[in-house]
Amino acid sequence: MTDSIAIDIKGLTKSFSNGWLGKKQVLNDLNFQILDNEVFGYLGGNGAGKTTTFKLMLGLIRPDKGEISFWGCSAKDRISRAMIGYLPEQPYFYAYLTGAEALDFYASLFDMTGTERKKKVGYLLDLVGLTHAGDTQLRKFSRGMLQRIGIAQALVNDPKLLILDEPMSGLDPMGRKAMRDIILSCRDQGKTIIFSSHIISDVEMICDRAGILANGELKNIITMDDAISSKDSTWEISCQGASLDLSGIKEQGAIKQVVRGNRHIISTGKKDIADRVMTEINRQGLGLVSFSTARKSIEEIYIQSAGQEILPAGSQQDKYS
Ligand SMILES: Nc1ncnc2c1ncn2[C@@H]1O[C@H](COP(=O)(O)OP(=O)(O)OP(=O)(O)O)[C@@H](O)[C@H]1O
Ligand SMILES: [Mg+2]
Repeated sequence: MTDSIAIDIKGLTKSFSNGWLGKKQVLNDLNFQILDNEVFGYLGGNGAGKTTTFKLMLGLIRPDKGEISFWGCSAKDRISRAMIGYLPEQPYFYAYLTGAEALDFYASLFDMTGTERKKKVGYLLDLVGLTHAGDTQLRKFSRGMLQRIGIAQALVNDPKLLILDEPMSGLDPMGRKAMRDIILSCRDQGKTIIFSSHIISDVEMICDRAGILANGELKNIITMDDAISSKDSTWEISCQGASLDLSGIKEQGAIKQVVRGNRHIISTGKKDIADRVMTEINRQGLGLVSFSTARKSIEEIYIQSAGQEILPAGSQQDKYS
């Protein structure tokens, strides 16, 4: 991953008019950057504003304030759109076209010749595992197959940037794995990917970083590598022996010690204290049973950052001003 900036979002603010209820503020001075060739997970509860951010990136709706640029090119500039492939949250397809015809149609929007289109359609059907369904009408496709056609159409113009709105939603575990693999292969080809999701394990598995949108702002950007060595990690040491004396360690408040028969379980949030406990265990001749690090899961960070539990669909309170 190089460190050049792919997407730069500055002061993005968006509200929707809501009749007599007034204005509904969705994004409130949103600022963040996505680096070139990274996979970025865009998290947030229902109604947090993820789809709104994507629509603003694509120029489908206009911001009240703020700027978006792609590799230095303003989102207002139509040229920027040629760099983007987009999978909408609820893609709509012509149901009576076959898989191959649908992709051929999308390719035709990019002025490709017949030969180029044929090659492209074959390549994309193969990439998304739908070669067998090229001659089947989309109305006969399952949800997972439609989602695959959706990602194939997003790739038709070989975009530098992929914006995927809940690409894993509605997919079974195999379908989610296939989607993750497609996203990772796109990253290997040098593409930059931002996708929204409610499936935190998918985000954890494939993202370089993830941002959590709540109350119109990005509350936290988590780098997956940092999450692993997070300051919120806990070290747990388990050892066996008649007694373990840790009174020599001054910071008693940072140690939690539980004794179960001959087993001593010590946990601490400080790495240097964990090291000293290990030294004491060795010095006092106790047998080490295990040493483990429990890192904070992205889910915990998410719940904390969003300041709420992950709520069922539709239960997020709307904000009006
Ligand atoms: N055209 C619109 N007019 C009025 N309100 C809108 C409009 N589009 C979106 N909203 C409101 O903006 C808020 C954010 O919606 P958005 O679709 O961006 O959320 P989201 O994060 O994508 O949610 P989900 O996870 O459910 O897809 C919601 O409260 C929604 O009702
Ligand atoms: Mg959405």
